[in-house]
Amino acid sequence: MQTIQIGLLGLGNVGTGVVQILQQQAVLIAQRLGTELALKKVATRTPDRPREVTLQAGQLSGDVMDVLRDPEIGIVIELIGGYEPARTYILEALQQGKHVVTANKAVLAQHGQELFEAARHHGVDIGFEASVGGGIPIIRTIKEAFVANRFVTIASIINGTTNYILSRMSDQGLRFEEALKEAQDLGFAEADPSFDVDGIDAAQKISLLASLAYGTWVRQEDVYTEGITKVTQLDIAYARELGYCVKLLALAKRDGDRLGVRVHPALVAAEAELASVQGSYNAVSVTGDMVGRNLLIGRGAGAFPTGSAVVGDVVDVARNILRSSSGRVPPQGYETLYENELSLQDIDDITCKYYLRFQVLDQPGVLSAIAGILGEQGISIETVIQKGRSADQSNTVSVVMMTHEAKEQAVRRALEAIQTLPRVQGETMRIRVEDSGAD
Ligand code: HSE
Repeated sequence: MQTIQIGLLGLGNVGTGVVQILQQQAVLIAQRLGTELALKKVATRTPDRPREVTLQAGQLSGDVMDVLRDPEIGIVIELIGGYEPARTYILEALQQGKHVVTANKAVLAQHGQELFEAARHHGVDIGFEASVGGGIPIIRTIKEAFVANRFVTIASIINGTTNYILSRMSDQGLRFEEALKEAQDLGFAEADPSFDVDGIDAAQKISLLASLAYGTWVRQEDVYTEGITKVTQLDIAYARELGYCVKLLALAKRDGDRLGVRVHPALVAAEAELASVQGSYNAVSVTGDMVGRNLLIGRGAGAFPTGSAVVGDVVDVARNILRSSSGRVPPQGYETLYENELSLQDIDDITCKYYLRFQVLDQPGVLSAIAGILGEQGISIETVIQKGRSADQSNTVSVVMMTHEAKEQAVRRALEAIQTLPRVQGETMRIRVEDSGAD
């Protein structure tokens, strides 16, 4: 039986999971592939550190070139993460004629065009299923299974850390910092957790999904991005009272010849499917014009779910090697950009309902002043909640309003004016209400 030799860069949480999967499932994979996969070399910055996995003498190296320059290694798995040196190593592997499998959404969101072009130029595959949604096969679904569709909407929860934090804050009443610490201990969070909580990781992932789905390049900086750090227990409680929960959503929506791509906290109706996605689970609701709406749900982070997607890609690449069909499916899923004229929608142009929480001095007339400014901007109010009188020295109370559908630009202008009212204290909380893909 022919053996396909693999090299691995990075032996962190996911790298360790990949090694364990390759070891535990070796026989099963060989039966399915018809060939053995052999992990020839693992390069890590700390080869002498004690590990959860047993590797044979000589399998570990402190030098990435032992992987990148080994002529027997046909597939390089990159699990270092980050922009550099990951980009340089991937390029080097591709230039050496090696196929690459990566879970690195950051490097793809920033340098995807360059890396995909290099893979095509060298006639090799680049697999990145693990870069979005952990174990969920969303990349393959968009590129292959739904190839007959024009995509209408992608509405997703694609950051496990923030979904875990919001779930724990909501269900167990944990403080933000406590929940983040748990997510870090469980190995979900990025090395720099601000990538998770500021929405950057989700923006990288949705820029990739949008680029594959819409036949155009969506850069990370094209994605309107807001994180979850301003969401408080108070907002979660008011949202629940109104029949919603708070989720960090990553959205890509086509509206005529415009494409809106955004990441922000959103109120999702409690009975909606996305509302039931808890903890580190991810979900992607994808609507195609022929297939309709589909919901893919699964573990979005963690060593084994992400490792499962990595090894799935390795087997895919190996099948192409065995049948001499490398490059059969282009990295981005299409041979030519076809929607280059699609223009990106400005966040000011979106329309939705809004949850607004004002902190105001508990004095007569303040409600009507706020309502008056909203009215001037053509924003009508659906619900108002104000509970009791101020209980502390500050003499302030929370006033929560749910609006009817309104334009973002009008809401922004209204909030700017409301903020100047002397009786409005602190920053107003504004959370968009999202129902696409949520029913
Ligand atoms: N930090 C990421 C998350 C890991 O929490 O989803 C998976 O990409």
